Amino acid sequence: MTADNIDNLLHESRRFPPSDAFAAQAVATRDLYTQAGTTPAERQEFWGVQARDLLHWHKPFSRTLDWSNPPFATWFDDGELNVAYNCLDRHVIAGHGDRVALNWEGEPGDSRTFTYAELTAEVKRAANLLTALGIRQGDRVAIYLPLVPEAVIAMLAVARLGAVHTVIFGGFSAESIRDRVNDASAKLVITADGGYRKGRVFPLKPAVDAALAPDADGTSTTVRNVLVVKRGGNDVDWVEGRDLWWDEEIAQVDSEHIAKAFPAENPLFILYTSGTTGKPKGILHTSGGYLTQVAFTHKNVFDLKPEEDVYWSTADVGWITGHSYVVYGPLANGATQVIYEGTPDTPHPGRWWEIVQKHKVSILYAAPTAIRTFMKLGRQIPAEFDLSSLRLLGSVGEPINPEAWVWYRDVIGGGTTPVVDTWWQTETGAIMLSALPGVTTLKPGSAQVPIPGIAIDVVDEGFHSTGADQGGLLVVTEPWPSMLRGIWGDPDRFVETYWSKFGPSTYFAGDGARRDKDGDIWLLGRVDDVMNVSGHRLSTAEIESSLVSHPMVAEAAVVGASDETTGQAVVAFVITRASQADAAAADDAGAILRAHVAAQIGAIARPREVFIVTELPKTRSGKIMRRLLRDVAEGREVGDTTTLADTHVMSVISKTMR
Ligand code: WTA
Repeated sequence: MTADNIDNLLHESRRFPPSDAFAAQAVATRDLYTQAGTTPAERQEFWGVQARDLLHWHKPFSRTLDWSNPPFATWFDDGELNVAYNCLDRHVIAGHGDRVALNWEGEPGDSRTFTYAELTAEVKRAANLLTALGIRQGDRVAIYLPLVPEAVIAMLAVARLGAVHTVIFGGFSAESIRDRVNDASAKLVITADGGYRKGRVFPLKPAVDAALAPDADGTSTTVRNVLVVKRGGNDVDWVEGRDLWWDEEIAQVDSEHIAKAFPAENPLFILYTSGTTGKPKGILHTSGGYLTQVAFTHKNVFDLKPEEDVYWSTADVGWITGHSYVVYGPLANGATQVIYEGTPDTPHPGRWWEIVQKHKVSILYAAPTAIRTFMKLGRQIPAEFDLSSLRLLGSVGEPINPEAWVWYRDVIGGGTTPVVDTWWQTETGAIMLSALPGVTTLKPGSAQVPIPGIAIDVVDEGFHSTGADQGGLLVVTEPWPSMLRGIWGDPDRFVETYWSKFGPSTYFAGDGARRDKDGDIWLLGRVDDVMNVSGHRLSTAEIESSLVSHPMVAEAAVVGASDETTGQAVVAFVITRASQADAAAADDAGAILRAHVAAQIGAIARPREVFIVTELPKTRSGKIMRRLLRDVAEGREVGDTTTLADTHVMSVISKTMR
């Protein structure tokens, strides 16, 4: 975020107190803050109460937190539960088997509905199938699917067996799949022939085939089988003995399956996310604490009434929002939800609003980048649909600028719905900062306050709390139930990345923040080399390493430049190798390199622009000064260059770009 943005935010003074009508029916009350107390012991006690209230424990726990070896935490560790049982069977047993769990909309207009009883039966079958394929507690299963019901079913089936899923977003490349499958040593991959996107079938299985092909030196991955869901109807290659059609296999297994109890700290999933280095990190989450906090926040932040509400989070299950607020939170709470396979503008730009109207969606959880895109298209598009069922709106993924916030409330929410801006991360597992609807007076642009039971501070480099309206770093000062338990296979990197800046018991989030006079927190964007493009995390280092892997490139620097719609956009500065540069004209080189990054990492990482330059700005110690490149990319006057090794370099760069 730029200095201008911070300035604008300081002047944002609109306030939206809860209406009496909303407050009167709200799930969350101010009492929650009182119950959560003010000391670490009280907060732990509070989470213990929530864990017992919100979940079914096969074996009750007697301990809440063990923090004797920070930053390695355990929560509820002598308790046992089954995550899938909590999301499915218990609702059926409680008499809610006929309640709709999933209303799925396919992009081409097909749809499917699953009640809790039906979804439970499907997951039991899938669990039997995975068992037949040799999947046991602790085994890793990679899932690379479009947003079809089978994605949810597969995740829950893995969880039901106490195995560990790693979901890979369907937009990622073969190489990204291979890295993740290898890092996790996955035994099984669940994919589809293809899925629908922007009105066309995009193939998925070829990427899996390429990812699993033996190395040049003949080394194979650990994957034994590939289960293939039929969705796109596109032709696929077939590896006999390895590949199996999901529908054929599932038809042969029983729909009875007894969920076994697993320890609260049994790993539930690994989700890879970008960090400051070139290699994505496998963020590890476990069962009992994770499910407690996702269920708690889903219920209280979204004001969920499971009997009445229709909830829709537009996230894909390939991201953490899809894990916590499409699969685990809503299903643990017995919610009825909508999931949608495709893009918001297919086949027409009102598709989302048509879905809201069709299913009478009452709670919508979306990303600022989508809201800004709709703003640009204009209010006449949502105006064609009946959106009166909406009573609560949520935002996640990046800071939401006050104008977008107010537009969201006015145009989508009919000028009355609360909008909750929720701050959290793959690593935090669940929402950490948010208003509570019906309780908090809302401030557009601010993520506001820690949810009950969470301890957050904004500090300076010396670890002192910053004063009102001073910028600082966001830290979590006490462990929380849904916190990451580690980076898969790399405890040192876990400690180093998150728990070393301010000592082993303070979590450093990597976000800049400011607290205002009322104590509300405003997020100011990442302070590290992580970019946020359309709410998706990308690492500058990862894209740079992809660029330099191309024979044409000698050196590359990538920055996130602010972008009206996507928040940030990837802008690359590249020095080509002399011999190669002659071969490709600069225009071509840009296009070739953009395509190269898209093929290597995925389309979301494709740079918006690639500038071919002859120099990069570096400090005397050789560190690239991205700040200066960002100035260039955003068309600003270049800032202070005095620490550059060669102070002329910026004028050279600016000239080549003109
Ligand atoms: C950013 C997504 C401001 C932030 C759930 C964080 C936000 C990163 C917000 C995590 C928000 C997420 N306001 N910034 N409401 N929500 N972020 O892991 O920089 O994909 O560190 O998790 O997104 O992204 P991740």
